[in-house]
Amino acid sequence: MSKDHPETAGAFFQHIKTSLAAAGIDNPAFEARRMIEKRTGINQAALISEPGLALSREQKDALFDDLSQRMAGKPLHRIYGEREFWGLPFKIGPETLEPRPDTEVLVEAAIGIYGDYPPKRILDLGTGSGCILLSLLKEWPESGGIGVDVSYEALQVAQENARILGLEGRAQFICGSWGEALNARFDLIVSNPPYIASDVIPTLERSVRDHDPILALDGGEDGLDAYRQIFFSLPRLFSPSGIGLLEIGFDQEESIVRLAEKYRGSVRCVYHDLAGWARVVEISCGDK
Ligand SMILES: C[S@@+](CC[C@H](N)C(=O)[O-])C[C@H]1O[C@@H](n2cnc3c(N)ncnc32)[C@H](O)[C@@H]1O
Repeated sequence: MSKDHPETAGAFFQHIKTSLAAAGIDNPAFEARRMIEKRTGINQAALISEPGLALSREQKDALFDDLSQRMAGKPLHRIYGEREFWGLPFKIGPETLEPRPDTEVLVEAAIGIYGDYPPKRILDLGTGSGCILLSLLKEWPESGGIGVDVSYEALQVAQENARILGLEGRAQFICGSWGEALNARFDLIVSNPPYIASDVIPTLERSVRDHDPILALDGGEDGLDAYRQIFFSLPRLFSPSGIGLLEIGFDQEESIVRLAEKYRGSVRCVYHDLAGWARVVEISCGDK
């Protein structure tokens, strides 16, 4: 097909939808609508009521580019460099994990635990795009927090997200490995660390394996390396009432309970995702 055709929004929609379906991509109509809206501003209602709307040369070129990247396996959120999390818009980059709905279980758990008395100081270990820390700060206007990541590039994205969300005054970002560089105490420590066992990574879906950064996925031989580092630091980083909320892999609950005990902590509660998998553990240390 020549780049000059199709010409209208409706014809483009059909072309994209058919191409995505032929490539075996799930929800081709949804993605086609999203692409048209992103590049032209024409929403679903207008697409139905005015399918004959003409597109500009730039709009058509952008759509053809998006389509070829999508057909090559790049997720739509990666093409646009943005993803919604907790109802908020987040920029993402090559060095950040694409925030996942499962991680919202952690945010929801935190809000449920604290109710009307939010924690003052929050620490987010492995902050990536900053999605967990910034969502919590958006909910809790009196709280402040630090996001740590070993990836400087990821932190630049997190910083940009803080600015866009108007939270730069309450969110600080530090480059370092887990809690190592910190000399402060926190009421709430959150983390979604890399937890995939190294030998499982080649078997992951292509969209994950090829597009999420390895640093965000690889949890070492048994998937638990990051938890060991984090559990080791928790007693030193918790305020007297401090608790931790950690995302875990769907099959890691038992290993995490054992690991927490080994490091003088305990799992107080387990929160499940919509599919029923154990997804987040609440950790405390000592007698708390
Ligand atoms: C699974 S991603 C989570 C990102 C983000 N918190 C989220 O939920 O979307 C794990 C993050 O841990 C970071 N990370 C990996 N090793 C680290 C380390 N040694 N110290 C701090 N952060 C690390 C990665 O760069 C990545 O951003």
